[in-house]
Amino acid sequence: MFAAILNCIAEVVAGSAAWLGRGLSCVCVQRRDSDVSNTFDLTLAQEECLQRIQRRIDVPYDSSIIEHQDALRALWNAAFPEEELHGLISEQWKEMGWQGKDPSTDFRGGGFISLENFLFFARNFPKSFQVLLRKQEGDRSVWEYPFAVAGVNITYMLIQMLDLEAVKPRNLVGATFLKFLAENGSAFDLLYCITFKLMDHQWLTMRASYMDFNAVMKETRRQLEKELLIEDIARLEDLPSYKLLSR
Ligand SMILES: *[C@@H]1O[C@H](CO)[C@@H](O)[C@H](O)[C@H]1NC(C)=O
Ligand SMILES: *[C@@H]1O[C@H](CO)[C@@H](O)[C@H](O)[C@H]1NC(C)=O
Repeated sequence: MFAAILNCIAEVVAGSAAWLGRGLSCVCVQRRDSDVSNTFDLTLAQEECLQRIQRRIDVPYDSSIIEHQDALRALWNAAFPEEELHGLISEQWKEMGWQGKDPSTDFRGGGFISLENFLFFARNFPKSFQVLLRKQEGDRSVWEYPFAVAGVNITYMLIQMLDLEAVKPRNLVGATFLKFLAENGSAFDLLYCITFKLMDHQWLTMRASYMDFNAVMKETRRQLEKELLIEDIARLEDLPSYKLLSR
């Protein structure tokens, strides 16, 4: 512990980014000269919530862990209750928009939290989840985005947008989000559901095809940032895009 602190101090002195202290009592502030004055102060409750979500983000998907296997099976059952899954490695996964027969290789960008996000979505908004999974709404492109790959991408985008890997948020959207998170520990998962639905809405509005996926994600992020900064929004349920979701 003491060695860790010294090491942390040494790194700060050397001017490199140092990130320590999740779970330790020492929190070593990330110091790059350009951003040191641009962090937002947090309440103790917000700081604890940030650390809790950082611990979630740090968990990679690990197919040797039973809990992870169970979660993946649960996702299948939530998605296709009428169809039996033949194995954790199976061609069937492609029906859900995974790239191959083993979803664990697609989790790299998002980690276990992206599986948790999927499950939260399927359980809390089963109607919207099914409509998106089965592409039941709107005039769809011939070259559709793959549902599961897009979901992992959304988790990843949100972590970047909210700057959740920094010791303290360095942008206003990230700081604002921590207020919602301190009010409700499911705020990240709920924002994921809103984002997925909003992304599909933009996709249809832009009459996009898979080549446009990154442009759609960019537009989704822009819209989300705008909504999160609307004054008087006390809960994520008050975001305009929340209305797109149905249970
Ligand atoms: C997903 O995210 C990565 C990283 O931002 C990006 O390179 C990729 O093109 C995105 N799109 C999909 C659907 O994989
Ligand atoms: C937190 O948000 C979720 C998702 O909207 C909701 O189901 C839950 O009831 C909320 N919890 C509290 C304590 O408000």
